[in-house]
Amino acid sequence: MDGSPRIVDELRNLPTLEALQAAIGARNMTPGWIKRPKPILWHEMHSEFVPAQWRYVEAKAAMQAAGRLIGTDLAERRNFVMRNPIPGNDIATLRTLICAYQSIMPGEKARSHRHAPHALRVILESHGSYSTVQGEKTPMESGDIVLTPGWHWHGHGHDGDEQAFWFDGLDVPLTHLLEPMFFEEHPDGWEAVDTVTDVSPMRFPWADTLAKLGRAPAEKTGHFGTTIELPAPSMPTITLKVHQWNAGWLNRPYRHASNTIYVVMQGSGTSRIADKSFDWSFGDTIAAPAWCRIEHKASGDTVMFAMSDENLMRWTKYYRIEAVG
Ligand SMILES: [Fe+2]
Repeated sequence: MDGSPRIVDELRNLPTLEALQAAIGARNMTPGWIKRPKPILWHEMHSEFVPAQWRYVEAKAAMQAAGRLIGTDLAERRNFVMRNPIPGNDIATLRTLICAYQSIMPGEKARSHRHAPHALRVILESHGSYSTVQGEKTPMESGDIVLTPGWHWHGHGHDGDEQAFWFDGLDVPLTHLLEPMFFEEHPDGWEAVDTVTDVSPMRFPWADTLAKLGRAPAEKTGHFGTTIELPAPSMPTITLKVHQWNAGWLNRPYRHASNTIYVVMQGSGTSRIADKSFDWSFGDTIAAPAWCRIEHKASGDTVMFAMSDENLMRWTKYYRIEAVG
């Protein structure tokens, strides 16, 4: 095992294939030609994750219970992670993405921290809550979408009168895969506010999102319906889109090499993801693993948030899309 001329000569003259495999196995190498439980290459994309749905009305009730049962003094964040229901997984919602429902009580503060993963929030029900991101305090009102790019200090507070609820989305599973995880609590517990503003590249107010959807050009493929993309250049691993579907709209089914998590901002309908059908309404979350056939039908006028790894897949040149009848 030491690279000596004797060893090199022994290896060169190994008498059998079995002896060869044993010799290279002892050197932490495996032959490329052996059969493996998980092969190196396969014919077509197949996510190990499954289509799944989480109902907001149930999560909200559970968060109301959590509001009674645990405070932000004990819970760093009072949230419920949406784990994809596959064996052995208690974190990821899909391969690259994680999401959670989170809540804050009036008068509470969720301490400031920062972490490598990029994060965003879709504010479901809130009047008077806010985020402080890198010293900038911005409102979190119902329908807002708020960004927290990686390594930005962020904390949350609530000056209103009613419990606030939102959806969190992050690229934590990607960080776990690539391993650049860093996390730090703010030394002061709560980051001081430098500026207070309604207008920030970190915040997409609901009214602006509706106005942009109203100006959006017609979507030609029929796969996605009226769509806008929200710019988030400081967090390029997560693609943020918002779709607007009128009642009765039905898409042209497709599949693509991108993991997508939908959040219902308004409306109701049914999505069929691969072989699973989900009836959804306000606040629900639907996970569509990459390369699953996606079919949507809006029964009410709908605004659907979609967070995905599409731009990441495009950057790697892995992205592809096809219509599926
Ligand atoms: Fe965070």
